[in-house]
Amino acid sequence: MTLQETSRFAFTPDLTICRLLNGMWQVSGGHGRIDPARAVAAMLAYHDAGFTTWDLADHYGPAEDLIGAFRQQLAARSGDSGLAEIQAFTKWVPHPGLMTRRIVEDAVAVSRRRMRVDRLDLLQFHWWDYRDRRYLDALKHLADLRDAGQIRHLALTNFDTERLAVIVESGIRIVSNQVQYSLVDRRPAARMAEFCAAHGITLLTYGTLLGGLLSESWLGRPEPSRGELTTVSQQKYKNMIDAWGGWDLFQQLLGALKRVADKHRVGIAAIGARAILDSSAVAGVIVGTRLGIAEHIADNARIFDLSLDADDRTAIEPLLARSRDLMRVIGDCGDEYR
Ligand SMILES: NC(=O)c1ccc[n+]([C@@H]2O[C@H](COP(=O)([O-])OP(=O)(O)OC[C@H]3O[C@@H](n4cnc5c(N)ncnc54)[C@H](OP(=O)(O)O)[C@@H]3O)[C@@H](O)[C@H]2O)c1
Repeated sequence: MTLQETSRFAFTPDLTICRLLNGMWQVSGGHGRIDPARAVAAMLAYHDAGFTTWDLADHYGPAEDLIGAFRQQLAARSGDSGLAEIQAFTKWVPHPGLMTRRIVEDAVAVSRRRMRVDRLDLLQFHWWDYRDRRYLDALKHLADLRDAGQIRHLALTNFDTERLAVIVESGIRIVSNQVQYSLVDRRPAARMAEFCAAHGITLLTYGTLLGGLLSESWLGRPEPSRGELTTVSQQKYKNMIDAWGGWDLFQQLLGALKRVADKHRVGIAAIGARAILDSSAVAGVIVGTRLGIAEHIADNARIFDLSLDADDRTAIEPLLARSRDLMRVIGDCGDEYR
């Protein structure tokens, strides 16, 4: 299978990505047992279908090691030209504390070793506590490591607009911010998107499919108890639905999305992903992949055939307008982590 040309996006002048990224939080536990050999076989299948871009983190269990094993197999099969087709975006999520050059460089070295790369394609930095301004120390060291060739591009995850401005003003070059963005959580559209557009920063989004809750599987179902939510991702986004407007309103949204999906002969998830891909600030939508357990290659390939029209948006918008304002309830992007 080859994806449509529109699946590709010039993320930076030297890095083209698939606009649907394969998310690897799902290998870290809490989403079913991952078998490493089956997982790597599934990675090859995603890659061969055109889904060449991966989102992972230092703390997603074996994710960085799986990238290393996947690269090894791809190199054995296709050599350096095969390896050049992969984009693997990791994160560094340190505990708050002293951010010396040594500490930062050691963390980057661990990811490079595990992923079997000389240079990280993208390092997305997370920080837990803005009262501790040592995030700027960490970013300055990361920028030096980028300039020294250990990281290709520097990025952020879960930073709010205010702190993004602090970072930009301090002269640190950032290419993207990874944030939660879905039809339910539209906070990035409030402030973040405009700031990013003005500063040449793009968004990578997660939670766009609400851990799978945004699908036919949940349409028409009574509100689930916590025990019925079988992954930690579903539990996380059920909390978001509760903050947003509750299960009844969510069911009405699923119903409206189903009508739009039927019109386009795709699934509800495809409509949810397409709607966010259409936001001008968004470079890519990350879709969690339970490697070797569940697979959505053909369904998600269809997202690139799909184009939403004004009628589709008119069908969805009134329901979204009835929700609570998550900027008020939670705060700007990432505030739920603080
Ligand atoms: N920066 C951060 O703080 C942060 C936080 C969370 C996630 N992330 C990143 O974002 C990724 C996405 O994870 P997420 O937890 O937000 O989950 P998600 O992408 O909203 O949902 C993933 C789930 O959606 C279902 N799905 C995928 N395609 C589908 C389709 N076509 N039809 C129906 N269902 C479909 C699958 O469920 P089944 O497997 O059950 O089929 C899959 O496990 C993570 O892996 C991670 O890389 C980052």
